Parts: sequence; structure tokens; C-alpha cells
Amino acid sequence: MCGIVGYVGNRSAVEVLLKGLQRLEYRGYDSTGVAFQKGNRIEIEKSEGKLENIFKRFKEMDLNRAPVSTVGIGHTRWATHGKPTTQNAHPHRTGSIVLVHNGIIENYREIKEDLMKKGHEPQSETDSELFGFLVLEELKLKKSFIDAVRFAFQKLEGACSVVVMSENDPDTVIGIRNGSPLVAGIDSEGAIYLASDPQPLLDYTKKVVYLENGDMAIAKRSGLEFRDVITGKVVQRETIELQWSVEQIDKQGYPHFMLKEIYEQPTALIDTFNSNLDRIDPTSFPLAKHPGVDKLMNASELHLIACGTSYYASLVGKYWLEKYARVSTQVEFASEFRYRDPVLDDRALIVGVSQSGETADTLAVLRDLKKKGKATAAVSNVRGSTISRETDGAFFTSAGPEIGVAATKSFLTQMGIFLLWTGAFLERRKKGSADGLFEETVHLPHVLKNYLDDSSGIREKIKEAARATVTKKGFFFIGRGSSYPLALEGALKLKEIAYVHAEGYAAGELKHGPIAMIDENVVVIVLAPKDGWRDKTISNLEEVKARGAQIIGVGDPSDRHLQDLSHHFIPLPTLKNEDLNVFPLSIVVQLFSYELATLKGTDIDKPRNLAKSVTVE
Ligand code: M6R
Repeated sequence: MCGIVGYVGNRSAVEVLLKGLQRLEYRGYDSTGVAFQKGNRIEIEKSEGKLENIFKRFKEMDLNRAPVSTVGIGHTRWATHGKPTTQNAHPHRTGSIVLVHNGIIENYREIKEDLMKKGHEPQSETDSELFGFLVLEELKLKKSFIDAVRFAFQKLEGACSVVVMSENDPDTVIGIRNGSPLVAGIDSEGAIYLASDPQPLLDYTKKVVYLENGDMAIAKRSGLEFRDVITGKVVQRETIELQWSVEQIDKQGYPHFMLKEIYEQPTALIDTFNSNLDRIDPTSFPLAKHPGVDKLMNASELHLIACGTSYYASLVGKYWLEKYARVSTQVEFASEFRYRDPVLDDRALIVGVSQSGETADTLAVLRDLKKKGKATAAVSNVRGSTISRETDGAFFTSAGPEIGVAATKSFLTQMGIFLLWTGAFLERRKKGSADGLFEETVHLPHVLKNYLDDSSGIREKIKEAARATVTKKGFFFIGRGSSYPLALEGALKLKEIAYVHAEGYAAGELKHGPIAMIDENVVVIVLAPKDGWRDKTISNLEEVKARGAQIIGVGDPSDRHLQDLSHHFIPLPTLKNEDLNVFPLSIVVQLFSYELATLKGTDIDKPRNLAKSVTVE
């Protein structure tokens, strides 16, 4: 969850590290810090709170008095062990060793007890700091810095990565990956970068190496080398070319990444279709060939395993895959599936759906089932991510980097992938039929582009609805059929970025309990597009209307009845295939949450207590 960076080069390390941390801040923002080599000393600047605190600190400092440092490490924290204080912020110093850490040291209690018996006195409440003492213990045995780090790392249990420097070994930064991601890259001038995600490297190079678990990256002025952390032997790793650009990781005039990412959705969907379809193949829905496609097409049943927004996208997929393609599809939270003993068919395909491709619970499920001989696949937005590499076949959404902590374009493009799968099953198994589905699918990005265009007036209408309801105490998103997952997603978005109580409900379930909460202080956002479920949803809406709720209706522009029942009405574009309404609906729930959060003045891109990539259980 934390973001770590390391640098050995010729530029100002502080500048490279701060810029890198800015690019990584979505990974955690409880506290930040950098350490930089100055002569034979390593200096540390750290602070609780967001990165801007450290920026201010450096502005106030008279940097001219200090020689420019060209080697350093940095960290942005999402607290696990110990409060988000300056004391607990990384980098941590123990003697000559300075380190940053991402992940969890599961055996930290035993390690701490043992170290304290040996006379060490940790200064922070973190598990991370202990690693420095372990390195010092190894150094006492006359080991080299590299070996001391290597052997110390072997004492850790749990998924984590560390990046370490030593005052006795200048111009060297060592990174080790075990579970938590770490990438390395060299720019054209030979400068070396380490980071938990590739974004900080994009400013300097597109060629990166994703470290494997158990890899050690040793960055020195003489070059970058990879070794196995257990054997110490040099290993060769493949360099891959990143497909993302620097522009994609800038706000480009938008006030927030989230808004920019909402507006990028039509392009993200086109890119996802293009990268997954083989347009030379004359059949409809021709998936571009790769091992994942064979696994998919041979599967007797699908189990979509995910967390958060990826789970809701998977729920939408279930509706299509079962309705059109007649493929049994189960969707489950990774954190629950993991501890069950599910009954799985021999030819079941277990699919990890994860934007980041690093979510700990999702990864754990895939690993467990792979060990048991099950076929696995991934749907991820990050090429090179752990989940995509460890499964038998990966499908990629081409949403581009998603920086806002609230998932938007990854959700929409994940639905795009499931739509392609549905079409591909239909094509190959000929079990169902969906006239014109392909044509409407490829036309969809254009519909969404027009919908997002200022001339549609949609944003203004949503803003108005948000202004009128911003003081209300609770929000219910309701829907039926494939609009139900959208109701769940809408409520998650609103909780996440506006910090208001919101629930997503299957419209038919309201009267089984939650209707007791409905009064004039509650807003009900009813997702009722023109589809087979619309009439039933409207009946449920009548019930809440009678109890005084404020109603925001979302539906077809021709739906007079819905408009009459609603205090505010958001029209959807008219689509021939009713199942595709989930795409514009997702824009509505995203924008509504965004506008309400803007009115509340929350930190939209970095909402409190959250991190983009959840790499701990
Ligand atoms: O990277 P993943 O898709 O595996 O992440 C899963 C969830 O943590 C994520 O969707 C989270 O719920 C989002 N912040 C929601 O906006």
C-alpha cells in the first residue's frame, strides 16, 4: 500500500524522489519522507501528513548550502503498524542503515523481542524499522552490505518489499521484492530508479523490469544488477517497454484525476476493445489469441474473484455471461472465497479481477487454487502486475494509469472485457443469441463520448441534483438486474470520496428492511433504465416516494412516469440493447459522487484512510 522510490544517478536525488513520490502518492498518504546521501552521511527529512509538508520543508531549507545529493530513497506511507506520525514515517535509520518498507512483517513480534534481548531499542512503533536492526546484526558478522541485507531479509515473514542504503556503502541502493511490487529501470544516461509502481519512472524511461518475488536489485553507479535473495546468485530479468505516457499521469487541466479519468472512459473503452479484439478475424467478437482465451473458452464455469469496484464490475459480467452465453458464473469477494472450501468443477476457471493486479486477497486466492491445479486467469489494468504474471492467462483493460483512488475507468473497461467475453462465448458455443450486440458494443464509446460532452447537459443536471441533496443524511442507490451492481458501485463511490452514508440495494429488497430508514432526510437514487426490470423498479420507487424520500431518477428520456416521481431526473442515452445501459449509468453514479464530494470539500483523489492498491489482507 505504501509507495517507495530509490535513485542512483546524476540529477538532484531530492527532486527525483519528491517527483516520484508525487506520482505514487495514491498508494498512501499518511506520512512521507526522503533520505539522501550527503558526503558520507545520509540525511532524512520526513513528516506526518501529505507530501506537500515535505515539499514545504525543502522550500524553507537553504539547499544552496548543501551539496546536491544524487542518491536517495523515499516513501509515502499507508499506516499498518503504528499511527501516522512523523516518528513512524519512513525512512527509518538504525545506525548506518536507512530504509523504506512496503508491506507487512508478519513475525515482527518475535523479531522485536529477540532484538530487544540483544539490546536494540526501536524508536518507532513500526514493523519496518526492525529490518534495519536485522541488517546491523548481520553486519556484525562481517558480512558485506549486500549479504547483510540479503540474510536479514530472509528472516522476514510476510509480503513486503524494502529499499535500503548504508552510510558505509555510498552510491548504492538495494531493493528487494517479496510479495509487494517493485520495479527497476535505467534511463539513457545510466541513472537507476526503483519504485513500487512504474509511474515515477515514466518521466525518465519507459524500459522497466518488474522484479520477481525473491529478487534483489542492486543499484550502483556502475550499473543495475539482479540477484536471488536466497542464493545471492546473479539472475537475468526481462526488460519490458511501458505503454503508458507521462501525459496520462498528469491532470492535464482537470481539477482532479478522478474527473479526468471519468472523461477518459470513452477512449479507455476503445483502447480496451482494440487491444482485445482481433479485427482481422471475420467472426463476430474475435478475441485476440493468447493462452487466456483458450482457458476461458474451455471453462465449464467461471469464478470471478475480486474486491471493491472490481467485484461490482464482475457482478455485471455475471448478468451477461449467464443471460447470453449461458456460462455459469459465480462472483465472490476474494477475502471471503479465500477462507471457504468451495465446490469447483474440474474445468472451472478462476479469474482474478483486479485493476492494480496486486490486491493481496485476490492474489492469495489465485495462488491457492493454482497450487491445487485449477486453471486461473486475470483481468487487470497493469501489464507486469503480479496477478497478471502469475495466472495462466491475462486479459488487460487498456484504461491507462488510474491515479484517483476511486476506481472509474478501470470499472468501465472491466465491464468492457466481460462484454467481449460474452460475445466470444456466444460466437463459439452458439448457445444464445444477441442480435446486433457486436455493432452496439463497438459503437458504445461514441455514445459515451457524446453523453459526456458539455452539449448533453448531463454534468449540469447531476451538479444540480448534488447541490439539492448535499445536506441530506443518507443515500440509497437502488436498481434491479444489471443496474443492481451499479447501485452498489454508486454507493461505494459516494462513501469513498464524499464520506456520507450510502447504501446500494436491490430495489426489490427495500421493503425487507431498509425502507424503515426512509424519510425526507434520505435521498434515493433510482437506476431505472428502459429494460425488463424498469416497471418493477418503478413500483419500488412509488413505495419510497410515499415515505417522503428525495428522489433522483435515472432513466430513459421518454420515461414520463419516472420523471413525475423524481425530484431530479438524469436522462440516459437511448441504447438499443438494454443490457448496455450499465455503461452510461456508471458515468452518472461516478459524476454524482464526484459533484457531491466537491461540494463537501473532501480530498477526492486521496480520500481519507484509503490507498489505491491494497496489498495487505
Ligand atoms: O486493484 P483492485 O481492482 O484489485 O482493487 C480492488 C479495490 O481495492 C478497489 O476497487 C477499491 O474498492 C476502489 N478504491 C474503489 O473505488
